[in-house]
Amino acid sequence: MKLKELESCLQQVDAFEEPKLFLEQYPTSPHIAACMIYTIHNTFDDIENKLVADLGCGCGVLSIGAAMLDAGLCVGFDIDDDALATFKMNTEELELTNTDIIQCDVCNLEPAALTKRFDTVIMNPPFGTKHNKGMDMLFLKTALNMARTSVYSLHKTATREHIQKKASDWKVKMEVVAAELRYDLPASYKFHKKKSVDIEVDFMRFSIS
Ligand SMILES: C[S@@+](CC[C@H](N)C(=O)[O-])C[C@H]1O[C@@H](n2cnc3c(N)ncnc32)[C@H](O)[C@@H]1O
Repeated sequence: MKLKELESCLQQVDAFEEPKLFLEQYPTSPHIAACMIYTIHNTFDDIENKLVADLGCGCGVLSIGAAMLDAGLCVGFDIDDDALATFKMNTEELELTNTDIIQCDVCNLEPAALTKRFDTVIMNPPFGTKHNKGMDMLFLKTALNMARTSVYSLHKTATREHIQKKASDWKVKMEVVAAELRYDLPASYKFHKKKSVDIEVDFMRFSIS
């Protein structure tokens, strides 16, 4: 499948009906999601026939991209039942049979049960910049525990140095696959005075040796 085709399929995926601010429910745009999944597949061969986990999967745009590029199975994990109901509806409408969902708090998973159970972990985690400081790093630590090969994640560009340091403390190789992507936070929250707020994010790859 071509990149443009994947992006246009992902444009059909429904996003959060009533996004919950405390869960940082801002969806990955179809453009960024398609670029991420396409690169993970074409450059790193980490999607096709792989067991993939999507942490904080929300309505499933990343999982659906992975499923469309022939993941063996992509399992989405999210704390929010409403988001998972939309995920389920999205996958049913697209007649995908290689996805599954687990409702859970990603920060409180039983670590031993999931250690190295997935080939690849993909995610756009909560950025952890409000009441939930450090949430992005909790997601990353969990993802690195679950993956056998690699973790792909979006993080605020402003946190790049901190993440690089953590990765080296954890003896994991981190590379920035695409830097300073414009991530458009829709004005779905009352405190946003403008229509949308742009922030810069990096698409990162962590490889486990
Ligand atoms: C930035 S959104 C990304 C959603 C989706 N992956 C996407 O790319 O559009 C973060 C997601 O993390 C979920 N989330 C927040 N805290 C969580 C937690 N403790 N455990 C599991 N999921 C959580 C939210 O419900 C939300 O769906």
